[in-house]
Amino acid sequence: MTDLHPDIKRILITEDEIQKRVAELAAEIDRDYQGADLVVLIGILKGAFIFTADISRKMTVPHTVDFMSISSYGDQAVFDGAVRLILDLRKPIADQHVIVVEDIVDTGHTMDYLYQTLQGRHPASLKTCTLFKKERNSLEVPLDYVGFDLPDVWVVGYGLDYADKHRTLPYIAELKKEVYS
Ligand code: IMP
Ligand code: MG
Repeated sequence: MTDLHPDIKRILITEDEIQKRVAELAAEIDRDYQGADLVVLIGILKGAFIFTADISRKMTVPHTVDFMSISSYGDQAVFDGAVRLILDLRKPIADQHVIVVEDIVDTGHTMDYLYQTLQGRHPASLKTCTLFKKERNSLEVPLDYVGFDLPDVWVVGYGLDYADKHRTLPYIAELKKEVYS
């Protein structure tokens, strides 16, 4: 076992556990969309870039990948109240089967914003997929595919960051409280 970065308290989910769960989610999506002409995966940058790459390569149903970029936090792990659209899709999604692919749902505000925004563009169907979900979501946005439930701590790795750091760790790790609070 290599030494953990000093900001990191412990590993919560190992690389193997993540990869196994991502494969399960891909299989679930393949089953649900069997016979569909095309599915449009919308990865939410930056946090979901690795998850989107992995799940899309495990899916066998015909699909394309597009990206949106959203920001709801500053460099501090504090919600500043606003969800901002930083980068929009390249193509319209009207009459397409769309799945939003997020890294993590905490309060649910980001996914709610995405869901409302995309629903307004009249896709044929719209589902949500998030690899991680914390316990605080009090909104009604439907979460169709969820990888793991997490406690209310700040996690990094597998695309998730703290102030843009630690994204490329292959596992999910809990940050030490004193680093983010
Ligand atoms: P929500 O709007 O409160 O649900 O926050 C969701 C967004 O906050 C995610 O897309 C992440 O970018 C970010 N986020 C929330 N919790 C964490 C975390 O523990 N680590 C890294 N990013 C997080
Ligand atoms: Mg995010």
